[in-house]
Amino acid sequence: MAIKKEKVIAKFREVYGSKGDVSVYFSPGRVNLIGEHIDYNGGHVFPMAIDTGTYVAVRKRPDKKVNFCSYNFDMKKTIGLEKIEAQPDDNWIKYPKGVLVEMKNAKYKLAGMDVFVYGDLPNGAGLSSSASLEVACAYAFARTAGKKNPDLVALSLLAQRAENDFVGVKCGIMDQFASAMGKKSHAILLNTETMKYAHVPLTLTTHTIVIANSNKKRGLVDSEYNARRAECERALKAIQAKKKGVKSLCQLGAGDVGLLKKVLSGNELKRARFAVEENARVLDSMKALKRDDIKKFGELMNASHDGLRDMYEVSCKELDALVSFSREVPGVLGSRMTGAGFGGCIVSLVPKNSVEQYIEHIYTKYKALTRLDTDVYIVHPSDGVHELED
Ligand code: GLA
Repeated sequence: MAIKKEKVIAKFREVYGSKGDVSVYFSPGRVNLIGEHIDYNGGHVFPMAIDTGTYVAVRKRPDKKVNFCSYNFDMKKTIGLEKIEAQPDDNWIKYPKGVLVEMKNAKYKLAGMDVFVYGDLPNGAGLSSSASLEVACAYAFARTAGKKNPDLVALSLLAQRAENDFVGVKCGIMDQFASAMGKKSHAILLNTETMKYAHVPLTLTTHTIVIANSNKKRGLVDSEYNARRAECERALKAIQAKKKGVKSLCQLGAGDVGLLKKVLSGNELKRARFAVEENARVLDSMKALKRDDIKKFGELMNASHDGLRDMYEVSCKELDALVSFSREVPGVLGSRMTGAGFGGCIVSLVPKNSVEQYIEHIYTKYKALTRLDTDVYIVHPSDGVHELED
């Protein structure tokens, strides 16, 4: 549910006082429909921006200081633009700090700012709260530095570098791209090898996209994520030694499985096979959408989850349980974990006329098994980063 600009400004003024012009920017979270863990393997991904995310209110300062304050975290910090360094108590401020460092590297003439952040995404649930914070900050800081129409693809790449190099998570480009480039009523097909993309209309008539949060905190996600990435890099190196001109795992197809089996073993083989198969599933799912075959789209979502569970090994028992309870509901066409995994959310295609029955079923069974609650969000494909109007 969109929040009004004046509400965010009122909160800003409670912290920073009533003087001066304040602008408010919003960048959404995302849910990935299919194409998981292949945005760092040159694969195709199919995320959509959702209608919750991060609001950033900014007022320009006459000096070179940046004040940070958040509605969600009880923590304030002031930094100087001349010297931006990571500190042990940075907490959420590491994201905007990383963005500022990358903007300095990109030669932005940054202004001092008072910054107030409000987020309505659940943190650490796999809906890209960090990417939405990074992109909202990058856009807000660029506008405050005088850039009227910042290049959104370039900003998403800058935000990714902030996460890779300052925060230290070697994420791919999907989340920042979706947050910057989302479009109402559309999902985004992105080829992460070429960065070519298309906004694909997503007007489902019989089904709706439902997210369910396992409320299992994603403890190991950062280290396991980097470990998966390293395994894929080792697999690619081994393949490149045998086959010239291969730039990424997802450049390989079904015809290369023989080669994979010959060159790789153990985890590397499993990860590489998953990447090749997941990329093929995304391309198949586009064909299915074109012919309005949403049943096939759902089957591919199911196969994606099963591969993430068995071959990529990034699911967990809570996500697997939620997915299987979700698939038990009549008319559900597909259900899979979404995002990095190890906890967080699942995404499902649920018949429009049985959403309540669906929620009741998964909530009851999941609670009985895990003692955890499930939070359910019904989401709509939404616009990417923008300034809030009056
Ligand atoms: C995280 C990363 C993305 C992507 C997904 C898995 O969300 O930030 O780049 O790799 O995991 O698909």
